Amino acid sequence: MKIGRVTISDRASAGIYEDRSGPEIEQALRDVFAGARFEAVIVPDEQPLISTALKKFADELRCDLVVTTGGTGISSRDVTPEATQSVLEKELPGFGEAMRMQSLAKVKTAILSRATAGTRGRTLIVNLPGKPSAVRECLEILAPAIREGLAHLRGEDPHEKQPAEK
Ligand code: MTE
Repeated sequence: MKIGRVTISDRASAGIYEDRSGPEIEQALRDVFAGARFEAVIVPDEQPLISTALKKFADELRCDLVVTTGGTGISSRDVTPEATQSVLEKELPGFGEAMRMQSLAKVKTAILSRATAGTRGRTLIVNLPGKPSAVRECLEILAPAIREGLAHLRGEDPHEKQPAEK
């Protein structure tokens, strides 16, 4: 199991502040996927740099899962959903919908997230918000769907009928 984490932040990539959300992704996912190996990168909020990082993690490093943090809001520099959509083969809008709906009970600003998700080849790509606390909250919401989605991409569709049942 290989997981890529992409921190998208002008300031973290320039070293102006420390990336706390990327390590938060890693810690939260270690609880879900014991023994997973991680690849990490920090990029500024530039659409081509984000999509290049996503393609590298999916196509070259063959990550099973790539999780981004940051850049999903509405400020002029927030372009993570556009960069993600540009590399997806199948979009999974339910990930963003579930995050916004369930986060809303805790934080009224969850509506401001434009996060999305989807597949590229056998890689599942998921956007998370930028705040470390939001990363943790959203991964808790999404963990069952991530686990199931990865099984489907590996060809282990648990709902698929076996030949004898068909
Ligand atoms: N979702 C959860 N669970 N917890 C949060 O604190 N913050 C919101 C939202 N989603 C938040 C959340 C805020 S304030 C914003 S602006 C958007 O995510 C987008 O964040 P981003 O631009 O850092 O990706």
